[in-house]
Amino acid sequence: MYSYIVEGGIRLQGEVDISGSKNATLPILAASILNRDIINLYNVPNIEDVKTTLKILEHLNCKIRKVNNKIVVDSRNMKNTSIPEELMRKLRSSVILAGAILSRFDSVEFSYPGGCDIGARPIDLHLNSFKKLGIKIEEENGKIKCIREKSNNTIIHLDFPSVGATENIILASVLLPNVQTIVENVAMEPEIVDLCSFLNKLGAKIDGAGTSIIKINGVSKLKKGISYNIMPDRIEAGTFLVAAAITKGDIIINKVNPDDLKAVIFKLEECGAKIKTNKTSIHLKMDIRAKPIEIKTMPYPGFPTDMQAIFTSLLCTAKGTSIVTENIFENRFKYIGELRRMGAKIKQNDKTIIIYGKRRLLGANVLSTDLRGGASLVLAALASKGESKISNLEYLLRGYDNLDTKLNKLGANIRRYYEDY
Ligand code: EPZ
Repeated sequence: MYSYIVEGGIRLQGEVDISGSKNATLPILAASILNRDIINLYNVPNIEDVKTTLKILEHLNCKIRKVNNKIVVDSRNMKNTSIPEELMRKLRSSVILAGAILSRFDSVEFSYPGGCDIGARPIDLHLNSFKKLGIKIEEENGKIKCIREKSNNTIIHLDFPSVGATENIILASVLLPNVQTIVENVAMEPEIVDLCSFLNKLGAKIDGAGTSIIKINGVSKLKKGISYNIMPDRIEAGTFLVAAAITKGDIIINKVNPDDLKAVIFKLEECGAKIKTNKTSIHLKMDIRAKPIEIKTMPYPGFPTDMQAIFTSLLCTAKGTSIVTENIFENRFKYIGELRRMGAKIKQNDKTIIIYGKRRLLGANVLSTDLRGGASLVLAALASKGESKISNLEYLLRGYDNLDTKLNKLGANIRRYYEDY
C-alpha cells in the first residue's frame, strides 16, 4: 500500500502547471468511439481513472496508443460486448460509456456501477432518460441490457442537473439522424461544455452547452481524423490554490481557465487570500490566517462539491468558526474523522459541519477515505506541525497527476512510501 510522508510547516512558493481535466477526459474518451475512426486527444492527465477507461475501450477492441499526455483512440474495429463488471465497479463513471456504445451499436450491456465512498450514486436519471430516448431496458441480477427501439423527437426534463446523466443523454442522442432531443435542467459544468465542443468539432449539432437547456439535433455520422485538447482540471487547480492558502504561501498556477473557478476564487478571497488572474493563470498570495466563512455546495456555477473536503482543511485552521453544507452527495464527510486525528475540531449535523478553527493542526498517521478526502488530508498535513503519513494513496492516484511531485516543486517535502501489507 502506498503512503505519503509529509513534512508540515513549509510555505508553498513558485509556479506549477495544471494538468488536463479528469472529469472532461472521461466523457470525451467515451465520445471518442463515435466517429468510428481515429481520435487524437492532447493534455490528457496521467491518472488511474483514465487508465481504467482505456482498459474498457481496449476490452471493446479499440486500439489505444499513449505518448506522454497524448492518447490516440482507434475505434475502427470496435466490437460491442458488455462493459466488464469488475471495471464498472472500479470506475462507476464508466456508466457514460453506455450512451456512446448505444449510439454506435444500438445496444449495450453493463452492470450497476454500485455506490462508492461518497454516496449511493444511483443511475435512475440515466436510465429514465434512456427510456425517453426510445431505449428498452431489461434488468436482471444487477445486469442492465439496453436496446434501442424507435427514437423520436423528445424533451427530457432532469429532476436533478446530474453531470453523468447529462453526458449520457448527449452521447446517446448525438447520432440519431433527424431526431431532435431537448434536455432541460441539465448540468452546466465546464466539463459538459468541453464534451459538447469536442463533439461539435466532430460535426455534431449541439446547442446550449453551459446553459440549463441543451438541444441536440442528431446527425448520421461524424468527421474523421480529429484532434482535441482537453480543458484544464479546475479541481486540481482549486486544490493547489487551497494548498497555497493553508500554508500562507505565494504561488502561480498556469495552464488554467480562471473562469471555471469563480466560486472557489470568491470564497478564497472571502478567507483573506489575495488573488490576481489573467487568461491562463492565477496568482494567490496568503499573508494571514484564513478568516472563517460559510460554504454551501451546489451544482455549477455554485461552489463545487469536489472542493468541499479540500476547502474544509483550510477552514480547520481559520481564525473562527466556519460552516460547510454538502448539498450534492449524501456521504461526503467521511474524511473528517481523519482530520480530527490531526487535531481538527469539527461537529457534524447531517449534511452540515461546523468547523472550529485552530491555529495549528498536528501531524498524524491518517487514511485517505476517497479521492478529494485524501487531497484534504494532504493539504492539512502541509499546514500541520510535524510529520504526517497519509495511506491509501490509491484514491489520490485516481484523480491527481503527480500531486506530490508538483507540490514538491513548490517547496513541499513529500516522500512516497510503500508498505507491503
Ligand atoms: C460527476 O459525478 C463527477 N465525476 C464528480 O466528481 C462530481 O462530484 C459530480 O459530477 C458532481 O459535480 C465525473 O465527472 C467523472 P452527478 P456524477 O450525477 O456524474 C445524484 C470527483 O471527485 N444522482 O451530478 O456521478 C447523485 O447520487 C468526482 O472528481 C441520482 O440521484 O455526479 C448525486 O447525489 C466525485 N441519480 C447527485 O445526483 C442519477 O441517475 C449528483 O450526481 C445520477 C445522479
